[in-house]
Amino acid sequence: MTLTLPALQEKLHEWKGCPLHETANAVLGEGNPHATIMFIGEAPGQREDELKRPFVGAAGQFLDELLASIGLKREEVYISNVVKYRPPNNREPTDEEKAQCMPWLKLEIALIRPKVIVPLGRHALGHFFTKLSITNAHGKPQRLNDDVTIFPIYHPAAALHNGGLRQSLFDDFQALKTFLDEKNLSSPTAHC
Ligand code: URA
Repeated sequence: MTLTLPALQEKLHEWKGCPLHETANAVLGEGNPHATIMFIGEAPGQREDELKRPFVGAAGQFLDELLASIGLKREEVYISNVVKYRPPNNREPTDEEKAQCMPWLKLEIALIRPKVIVPLGRHALGHFFTKLSITNAHGKPQRLNDDVTIFPIYHPAAALHNGGLRQSLFDDFQALKTFLDEKNLSSPTAHC
């Protein structure tokens, strides 16, 4: 069977492998299936749960602004989360929930085959590198393998709580753009 995003979406809605499904809707990633860049957040919040779409609340609006600052639109990239359900009261996802949802993120990465993955915040960074801290690693490209670079950036929601991080996020997006330009990856589907 060929793996497609709609097929993945359907399977996720049937899946009961994470107890969070009892209290929340499944939210898969969305965007360009041929995207060069993939952004990964933590877990859906209230608005995402209501609309069953990633990054459509306040943090999502800020993410749209950050993307626009480097000439990108959300439909040109792929946007997803580590955990596929909203944790109650927006608490942080547990290690167990992250591990339970991990196969879905792996399938999305296998399907999109992005060249650059941007983990937004420490939960997504921890999916790739357990020993790196977001405070030290943000804004600096890290080689994952011959094909993929990880470019960690703070979670946009962090700047909504701590205004001092706002400029840091804009700076990191500029650094991301410079990296994409240098590697000839500026076109949203550069590897197709
Ligand atoms: N925060 C996240 O990490 N993901 C979303 O989809 C929305 C807010």
